[in-house]
Amino acid sequence: MERIQKRISSSGYCSRRKAEELIKKGLVEVNGEVVTKLGSTVKPGDIITVEGNILDNSKSYEYYLLNKPKGVVTTTNDEKGRKTVVDLIDTSTRIYPVGRLDYDTTGALILTNDGELANLLMKPDSLVDKTYIAKVKGIVQIPDIQKLRNGVVIDGVKTRKAKVKLKSIDKKKETSILELTIHEGKNHQIKKMFEVLGYKVIKLRRERIGELNLKGLLPGEYRKLSIKEVKILYSLCKNK
Ligand code: URA
Repeated sequence: MERIQKRISSSGYCSRRKAEELIKKGLVEVNGEVVTKLGSTVKPGDIITVEGNILDNSKSYEYYLLNKPKGVVTTTNDEKGRKTVVDLIDTSTRIYPVGRLDYDTTGALILTNDGELANLLMKPDSLVDKTYIAKVKGIVQIPDIQKLRNGVVIDGVKTRKAKVKLKSIDKKKETSILELTIHEGKNHQIKKMFEVLGYKVIKLRRERIGELNLKGLLPGEYRKLSIKEVKILYSLCKNK
């Protein structure tokens, strides 16, 4: 059972506040009966009409932004019985992760049951920027930063141009911290980009996907995306 205004907003039809207005105005029907009470609930299979439009049940999508912690696999089901990112989200809907973060990588990960958005975001040449913070063993040299920017060959294919900033170096510990923004999503891309230049990534965090960042989310915490955020993701995928 779900409150009707929540059901309407999670379908993507409009915001919850707008749904409440429409309910109060008598523009919402459940199984052919006008419903004006905001607390009314609906169950799966109920036919909901808003302003004369039937809500498509299959469009009841959920979207989450998780700050993935270390030690969790990015799949829906792990054959070795390890904890998965889906186990961290409290929902009965069959959601799945969009793309992959390695077992030891932390940071921003979207989970949803919206296949269209997932496919757009996971395309190898996806146009949505993803920003990573990488801690690397060794002092990364300026010519190597330029190579990372211009593209390096991994698995026989040159990576696209990337934005790369050297954030800091620790001469004593011989480590460097860099920020990289890429829009491709090849397997282990960041680690491999450094590997071909002779550096090992010792810590990796995804800071941002498009305009979504980790503000307010500790590792293991998640939040739902707003309709506006979902719309922005769609427009980033389609309009660049
Ligand atoms: N690149 C990697 O190497 N690992 C990740 O988890 C994500 C991007």
